[in-house]
Amino acid sequence: MNITIAGAGYVGLITAVCLSRKGQNITLTDIDENKITMLQKQEAPIFENGLSEMLHEYGGKMIFTTVPEQAYGRADIVMLAVPTPDRRDGSANLKYLYEACGQVASHCAKGCLVVVKSTVPVGTCDKIEHFFNDRTLSGLFRVASNPEFLAQGTAIQDTLHPARIIIGAENEAVAQEVQEIYNGFNSDFVVTDRRSAEMIKYASNDFLAMKISYINEIANLCEIVGADVETVSLGMGLDPRIGQQYLRPGTGYGGSCFPKDTKALHWLARFHDYELKTIKATIEVNETQKIRLFKKAKKYYKSFKGVTIAVLGLAFKPGTDDLREAPSIEVIQLLAEEGAVIRAWDPATGNRFAKQYPDLAITCQSLDEALCGAELCLIMTEWDEVRSCKPEKFADLMKAPLVIDGRNCYTPHSFVNSGVLYDSIGRKAVK
Ligand code: UDX
Repeated sequence: MNITIAGAGYVGLITAVCLSRKGQNITLTDIDENKITMLQKQEAPIFENGLSEMLHEYGGKMIFTTVPEQAYGRADIVMLAVPTPDRRDGSANLKYLYEACGQVASHCAKGCLVVVKSTVPVGTCDKIEHFFNDRTLSGLFRVASNPEFLAQGTAIQDTLHPARIIIGAENEAVAQEVQEIYNGFNSDFVVTDRRSAEMIKYASNDFLAMKISYINEIANLCEIVGADVETVSLGMGLDPRIGQQYLRPGTGYGGSCFPKDTKALHWLARFHDYELKTIKATIEVNETQKIRLFKKAKKYYKSFKGVTIAVLGLAFKPGTDDLREAPSIEVIQLLAEEGAVIRAWDPATGNRFAKQYPDLAITCQSLDEALCGAELCLIMTEWDEVRSCKPEKFADLMKAPLVIDGRNCYTPHSFVNSGVLYDSIGRKAVK
């Protein structure tokens, strides 16, 4: 069975190496020549834990190409993992998806099974089927939905050991074909129609985003009424009906999925004249939570003009070099507008940040360098280097030790009598 994966981004590339490891014949194609050239040399074009090792081991068995004839000519299955970015109005832009389908229709004369892995609005697989039927012999291309749930940083483990594999197909034979891709995977399968499969992806991501916004609102209320959100979260999460995961309060969710998928589902509902009130609130809460540290800092400084501020962590979460929708960017922009001198540090994405935003901040090569002489420290990402930092370090290196922790990396207790004023999310400030 020849499987071609279109799109060498997170989903496509990780799926490709994991399926190759499970013994499938994989061709990975992308329009980005630089990416493909790197992959041909078995170099990882993205930052992901364990990916370099996997490429080293299985890259030699895979074909990497930008040439559509080579990619699709012999394919039995094409898995579409191209980006579906959001438009200004929140709707998903399916341009890349249809471009890839056009290439498949032109170059796969014998027909094949088209499996949609990209996150797409409900009803897209039906439209893709019409797209093929309008251009080729009806029924030559079968279309199935098989959404992806991998998270950055744990993508390989998530793919090799998925909590569930969702298959959306219009008949049993097609569902069976998709299931065969995952021979050797120990996972629950949910086989359903295409529209339900497409909805499972959005409903899952949006539910997790909603859980985060919920705990963030509870955290903000905890600060007002004098409760401790960490214990509240623990106490809630021990109820198996609630669960501990995605109940960590912080500076809001970022990344390439939650912000995009919440907006897309909200847009889809509106398109059908329905208001998804919970998702609307989830989005609104996150918008304000993303600048929560800026607002908190305002309690301590009327003006930031000339104030030296260390920002620890820039990526939207640890384990990735991804800056997309990272709360750090908005906070830094607001501080810079007010004339703050920002010393930013991130172990993975510092250089990329410096290139993308050359005028916003001084990018430091180490955490210590960022803290040196700072009057205020904002913690935006809970990297291990940050978590293991002792209160004495802030006291020793900073000029006026005030730490505002957007990821609750420490217990407030550890800062008592440290000489550092420590403020965090959903807990009392201590000194
Ligand atoms: C997410 C989904 O987990 C994954 O299933 C989907 O396929 C893609 O989107 P990802 O964006 O890589 O994955 O990261 P994830 O670990 O889910 O975190 C998303 C954001 O939520 C991050 O900004 C993170 O900091 C934040 N988060 C997560 C919280 O603020 N609190 C939590 O308790 C969990």
